[in-house]
Amino acid sequence: MKKFLVFFLLGLVVAVSGGDFNQQFDITWGGGRGKIVGNGQAMALTLDRTSGSGFRSKNQYLYGKIDMQLKLVPGNSAGTVTTYYLSSLGATHDEIDYEFLGNISGQPYTLHTNIYAQGKGNREQQFHLWFDPTKDYHTYSILWNPLSIIFSVDGIPIRQYKNLESKGIPYPKNQPMWIYGSLWDAEDWATRGGLVKTDWSQAPFTASFANFNAQACSGSCAINPSANSWFSQSLGTAGLAKLKWVQSNYMIYNYCTDYKRFPQGFPPECSIA
Ligand SMILES: *[C@@H]1O[C@H](CO)[C@@H](O)[C@H](O)[C@H]1NC(C)=O
Repeated sequence: MKKFLVFFLLGLVVAVSGGDFNQQFDITWGGGRGKIVGNGQAMALTLDRTSGSGFRSKNQYLYGKIDMQLKLVPGNSAGTVTTYYLSSLGATHDEIDYEFLGNISGQPYTLHTNIYAQGKGNREQQFHLWFDPTKDYHTYSILWNPLSIIFSVDGIPIRQYKNLESKGIPYPKNQPMWIYGSLWDAEDWATRGGLVKTDWSQAPFTASFANFNAQACSGSCAINPSANSWFSQSLGTAGLAKLKWVQSNYMIYNYCTDYKRFPQGFPPECSIA
Protein backbone atom coordinates (compact mmCIF):
# COMPACT_ATOMS: atom_id res chain seq x y z
CA MET A 1 0.00 0.00 0.00
CA LYS A 2 2.99 2.32 0.13
CA LYS A 3 3.01 4.44 -2.95
CA PHE A 4 4.21 7.88 -3.75
CA LEU A 5 4.66 8.67 -7.40
CA VAL A 6 5.52 12.04 -8.78
CA PHE A 7 5.12 12.92 -12.44
CA PHE A 8 6.52 16.05 -13.98
CA LEU A 9 4.40 17.10 -16.92
CA LEU A 10 5.15 20.40 -18.60
CA GLY A 11 6.00 22.07 -15.33
CA LEU A 12 2.99 20.55 -13.62
CA VAL A 13 3.51 18.56 -10.48
CA VAL A 14 1.00 15.77 -10.04
CA ALA A 15 1.32 13.58 -7.02
CA VAL A 16 -0.49 10.36 -6.39
CA SER A 17 -0.23 9.64 -2.75
CA GLY A 18 -1.90 7.38 -0.33
CA GLY A 19 -1.51 4.55 2.04
CA ASP A 20 0.80 5.39 4.86
CA PHE A 21 -0.44 7.98 7.33
CA ASN A 22 3.09 8.30 8.72
CA GLN A 23 4.28 9.60 5.36
CA GLN A 24 1.29 11.82 4.66
CA PHE A 25 0.22 13.41 7.93
CA ASP A 26 1.49 14.98 11.13
CA ILE A 27 -0.51 14.85 14.33
CA THR A 28 -0.66 18.53 15.18
CA TRP A 29 -2.49 18.67 18.50
CA GLY A 30 -4.07 16.63 21.26
CA GLY A 31 -1.15 15.61 23.49
CA GLY A 32 -1.03 11.97 22.38
CA ARG A 33 -4.78 11.60 21.80
CA GLY A 34 -4.22 11.18 18.07
CA LYS A 35 -2.45 8.01 16.99
CA ILE A 36 -1.35 6.46 13.74
CA VAL A 37 -2.19 2.78 14.00
CA GLY A 38 -1.72 -0.49 12.11
CA ASN A 39 1.67 0.36 10.61
CA GLY A 40 0.46 3.63 9.14
CA GLN A 41 -2.78 2.23 7.75
CA ALA A 42 -5.14 4.33 9.85
CA MET A 43 -5.37 7.30 12.16
CA ALA A 44 -7.38 7.15 15.38
CA LEU A 45 -8.35 10.45 16.96
CA THR A 46 -9.68 10.56 20.49
CA LEU A 47 -11.49 13.09 22.60
CA ASP A 48 -11.83 13.26 26.36
CA ARG A 49 -12.83 15.97 28.77
CA THR A 50 -9.39 17.58 28.58
CA SER A 51 -8.84 17.70 24.83
CA GLY A 52 -9.64 16.47 21.37
CA SER A 53 -6.98 15.82 18.73
CA GLY A 54 -6.14 16.52 15.14
CA PHE A 55 -3.78 16.12 12.20
CA ARG A 56 -2.62 17.97 9.12
CA SER A 57 -1.18 16.77 5.82
CA LYS A 58 2.52 17.22 5.19
CA ASN A 59 1.73 18.22 1.60
CA GLN A 60 -0.27 21.12 0.27
CA TYR A 61 -2.70 20.63 -2.57
CA LEU A 62 -3.85 22.93 -5.32
CA TYR A 63 -6.63 21.00 -7.01
CA GLY A 64 -7.04 17.32 -6.45
CA LYS A 65 -9.22 14.29 -6.06
CA ILE A 66 -8.94 13.36 -2.44
CA ASP A 67 -10.54 10.33 -0.83
CA MET A 68 -10.59 9.51 2.86
CA GLN A 69 -12.45 6.80 4.72
CA LEU A 70 -13.95 7.65 8.09
CA LYS A 71 -15.58 5.62 10.81
CA LEU A 72 -17.29 7.97 13.23
CA VAL A 73 -17.72 7.96 17.01
CA PRO A 74 -20.24 5.19 17.81
CA GLY A 75 -22.98 5.16 20.42
CA ASN A 76 -23.85 8.41 22.13
CA SER A 77 -21.70 10.85 20.17
CA ALA A 78 -23.81 13.93 20.95
CA GLY A 79 -21.69 17.06 21.33
CA THR A 80 -18.74 15.65 19.38
CA VAL A 81 -17.62 16.96 16.02
CA THR A 82 -15.38 15.05 13.63
CA THR A 83 -13.92 17.14 10.83
CA TYR A 84 -12.16 16.40 7.57
CA TYR A 85 -11.41 19.42 5.44
CA LEU A 86 -9.07 21.30 3.14
CA SER A 87 -7.92 24.77 4.08
CA SER A 88 -5.35 27.40 3.22
CA LEU A 89 -4.17 29.98 5.72
CA GLY A 90 -4.97 33.61 6.46
CA ALA A 91 -7.85 36.05 6.43
CA THR A 92 -8.67 35.41 2.78
CA HIS A 93 -8.27 31.66 2.96
CA ASP A 94 -10.19 29.06 1.00
CA GLU A 95 -11.72 26.04 2.67
CA ILE A 96 -13.71 22.92 1.71
CA ASP A 97 -15.33 21.30 4.73
CA TYR A 98 -16.88 18.08 5.90
CA GLU A 99 -18.00 18.16 9.55
CA PHE A 100 -19.84 15.31 11.23
CA LEU A 101 -22.02 16.39 14.12
CA GLY A 102 -22.66 13.57 16.58
CA ASN A 103 -25.98 12.56 18.05
CA ILE A 104 -27.46 10.44 20.79
CA SER A 105 -27.56 6.67 20.15
CA GLY A 106 -29.86 5.68 17.35
CA GLN A 107 -30.30 9.23 16.05
CA PRO A 108 -28.74 10.31 12.77
CA TYR A 109 -25.46 12.17 12.48
CA THR A 110 -25.61 15.46 10.65
CA LEU A 111 -23.10 15.85 7.84
CA HIS A 112 -22.35 19.55 7.59
CA THR A 113 -20.55 20.96 4.51
CA ASN A 114 -19.26 24.41 3.72
CA ILE A 115 -17.11 26.20 1.17
CA TYR A 116 -15.03 29.30 1.77
CA ALA A 117 -13.65 31.30 -1.11
CA GLN A 118 -11.29 34.17 -0.38
CA GLY A 119 -12.15 34.26 3.30
CA LYS A 120 -15.91 34.11 2.94
CA GLY A 121 -17.95 31.05 3.84
CA ASN A 122 -21.64 31.06 4.76
CA ARG A 123 -22.38 28.35 2.19
CA GLU A 124 -23.63 25.61 4.47
CA GLN A 125 -25.48 22.54 3.34
CA GLN A 126 -26.35 19.70 5.71
CA PHE A 127 -27.34 16.12 5.13
CA HIS A 128 -28.37 12.99 6.91
CA LEU A 129 -26.68 9.84 5.64
CA TRP A 130 -28.38 6.79 4.13
CA PHE A 131 -26.29 4.45 6.32
CA ASP A 132 -24.91 4.29 9.85
CA PRO A 133 -21.52 6.05 9.58
CA THR A 134 -20.29 4.52 12.85
CA LYS A 135 -20.54 0.83 11.87
CA ASP A 136 -18.05 0.74 9.02
CA TYR A 137 -15.65 2.91 7.11
CA HIS A 138 -17.22 5.01 4.34
CA THR A 139 -15.45 7.08 1.71
CA TYR A 140 -15.78 10.86 1.75
CA SER A 141 -14.28 12.49 -1.32
CA ILE A 142 -13.50 15.96 -2.50
CA LEU A 143 -12.96 16.52 -6.20
CA TRP A 144 -11.58 20.02 -6.65
CA ASN A 145 -10.64 21.10 -10.15
CA PRO A 146 -10.97 24.26 -12.24
CA LEU A 147 -14.58 23.39 -13.14
CA SER A 148 -16.13 22.59 -9.78
CA ILE A 149 -15.87 21.25 -6.29
CA ILE A 150 -17.79 18.00 -5.84
CA PHE A 151 -18.38 16.32 -2.48
CA SER A 152 -19.11 12.59 -2.77
CA VAL A 153 -19.97 9.93 -0.21
CA ASP A 154 -19.15 6.37 -1.29
CA GLY A 155 -18.90 7.70 -4.82
CA ILE A 156 -22.35 9.34 -4.74
CA PRO A 157 -22.18 13.11 -5.31
CA ILE A 158 -23.95 15.05 -2.57
CA ARG A 159 -22.92 18.60 -3.36
CA GLN A 160 -21.51 20.58 -6.23
CA TYR A 161 -20.05 24.12 -6.20
CA LYS A 162 -19.39 25.25 -9.72
CA ASN A 163 -16.70 27.64 -10.80
CA LEU A 164 -18.80 30.70 -11.66
CA GLU A 165 -15.93 33.17 -11.59
CA SER A 166 -17.02 34.46 -15.00
CA LYS A 167 -20.17 35.65 -13.19
CA GLY A 168 -18.17 37.33 -10.43
CA ILE A 169 -18.55 34.57 -7.84
CA PRO A 170 -15.31 33.74 -6.02
CA TYR A 171 -13.81 30.29 -6.55
CA PRO A 172 -10.86 28.67 -4.75
CA LYS A 173 -8.14 28.41 -7.36
CA ASN A 174 -4.83 29.86 -6.31
CA GLN A 175 -4.20 29.11 -2.66
CA PRO A 176 -2.78 25.67 -1.92
CA MET A 177 -4.62 23.90 0.88
CA TRP A 178 -3.64 21.40 3.53
CA ILE A 179 -5.82 18.44 4.50
CA TYR A 180 -6.94 18.48 8.12
CA GLY A 181 -8.81 16.08 10.39
CA SER A 182 -9.93 16.56 13.96
CA LEU A 183 -12.20 15.33 16.70
CA TRP A 184 -13.31 17.88 19.27
CA ASP A 185 -16.06 18.82 21.67
CA ALA A 186 -18.70 21.33 20.62
CA GLU A 187 -21.44 20.50 23.09
CA ASP A 188 -22.56 24.13 23.17
CA TRP A 189 -23.86 23.94 19.57
CA ALA A 190 -23.28 20.66 17.75
CA THR A 191 -26.33 18.62 18.67
CA ARG A 192 -29.76 20.19 18.38
CA GLY A 193 -28.22 23.62 18.75
CA GLY A 194 -26.51 22.68 22.02
CA LEU A 195 -29.57 21.24 23.77
CA VAL A 196 -27.96 17.80 23.94
CA LYS A 197 -24.66 17.82 25.84
CA THR A 198 -21.70 15.48 25.62
CA ASP A 199 -22.05 12.39 27.82
CA TRP A 200 -18.54 12.30 29.30
CA SER A 201 -19.21 8.94 30.93
CA GLN A 202 -18.75 7.53 27.39
CA ALA A 203 -15.30 9.14 26.94
CA PRO A 204 -12.80 8.68 25.45
CA PHE A 205 -14.53 9.03 22.08
CA THR A 206 -12.75 7.74 18.98
CA ALA A 207 -13.10 8.48 15.28
CA SER A 208 -10.92 6.67 12.73
CA PHE A 209 -9.54 7.66 9.34
CA ALA A 210 -8.16 5.20 6.76
CA ASN A 211 -7.36 4.59 3.09
CA PHE A 212 -6.29 8.10 2.27
CA ASN A 213 -5.78 8.54 -1.43
CA ALA A 214 -5.01 11.73 -3.33
CA GLN A 215 -4.47 12.45 -6.97
CA ALA A 216 -3.50 16.05 -6.77
CA CYS A 217 -1.49 18.96 -8.01
CA SER A 218 0.87 20.35 -5.47
CA GLY A 219 2.41 23.00 -7.67
CA SER A 220 0.87 25.07 -10.42
CA CYS A 221 -1.97 23.42 -12.26
CA ALA A 222 -2.25 26.07 -14.93
CA ILE A 223 -1.75 23.58 -17.72
CA ASN A 224 -4.61 21.21 -18.29
CA PRO A 225 -3.17 17.72 -18.12
CA SER A 226 -5.28 15.55 -20.38
CA ALA A 227 -3.63 12.54 -18.75
CA ASN A 228 -5.45 13.31 -15.53
CA SER A 229 -9.13 12.77 -15.97
CA TRP A 230 -9.99 14.09 -12.51
CA PHE A 231 -8.68 17.48 -13.55
CA SER A 232 -11.39 17.90 -16.17
CA GLN A 233 -14.06 15.70 -14.57
CA SER A 234 -17.54 17.08 -13.92
CA LEU A 235 -20.90 15.55 -13.11
CA GLY A 236 -22.44 13.82 -16.09
CA THR A 237 -26.12 13.00 -16.46
CA ALA A 238 -25.89 10.00 -14.14
CA GLY A 239 -23.96 12.01 -11.54
CA LEU A 240 -26.50 14.81 -11.64
CA ALA A 241 -29.33 12.31 -11.16
CA LYS A 242 -27.61 10.89 -8.07
CA LEU A 243 -26.95 14.38 -6.73
CA LYS A 244 -30.62 15.15 -7.13
CA TRP A 245 -31.58 11.94 -5.33
CA VAL A 246 -29.41 12.86 -2.35
CA GLN A 247 -30.52 16.46 -2.29
CA SER A 248 -34.21 15.61 -2.39
CA ASN A 249 -34.04 12.77 0.14
CA TYR A 250 -31.19 13.53 2.53
CA MET A 251 -30.53 17.26 2.51
CA ILE A 252 -31.73 18.84 5.76
CA TYR A 253 -30.37 22.37 5.36
CA ASN A 254 -29.45 24.50 2.37
CA TYR A 255 -28.30 28.11 2.74
CA CYS A 256 -29.75 28.75 -0.69
CA THR A 257 -33.29 28.20 0.61
CA ASP A 258 -32.92 29.88 4.02
CA TYR A 259 -35.17 32.91 3.51
CA LYS A 260 -34.86 34.05 7.14
CA ARG A 261 -31.13 34.27 6.87
CA PHE A 262 -31.04 36.12 3.56
CA PRO A 263 -34.08 38.41 3.62
CA GLN A 264 -32.41 40.75 1.11
CA GLY A 265 -31.91 37.95 -1.41
CA PHE A 266 -29.81 34.82 -1.69
CA PRO A 267 -26.09 34.78 -2.51
CA PRO A 268 -25.65 35.04 -6.29
CA GLU A 269 -24.48 31.44 -6.82
CA CYS A 270 -27.84 30.22 -5.50
CA SER A 271 -29.78 31.40 -8.52
CA ILE A 272 -27.21 30.25 -11.09
CA ALA A 273 -26.10 26.87 -9.77
C1 LIG B 1 -30.03 14.21 15.84
O1 LIG B 1 -31.27 13.56 15.83
C2 LIG B 1 -32.39 14.43 15.76
C3 LIG B 1 -33.65 13.61 15.92
O2 LIG B 1 -33.75 12.62 14.92
C4 LIG B 1 -32.33 15.20 14.44
O3 LIG B 1 -33.40 16.12 14.39
C5 LIG B 1 -31.01 15.94 14.31
O4 LIG B 1 -30.91 16.54 13.05
C6 LIG B 1 -29.85 14.98 14.52
N1 LIG B 1 -28.55 15.61 14.39
C7 LIG B 1 -28.06 16.55 15.20
C8 LIG B 1 -26.67 17.02 14.92
O5 LIG B 1 -28.69 17.04 16.12
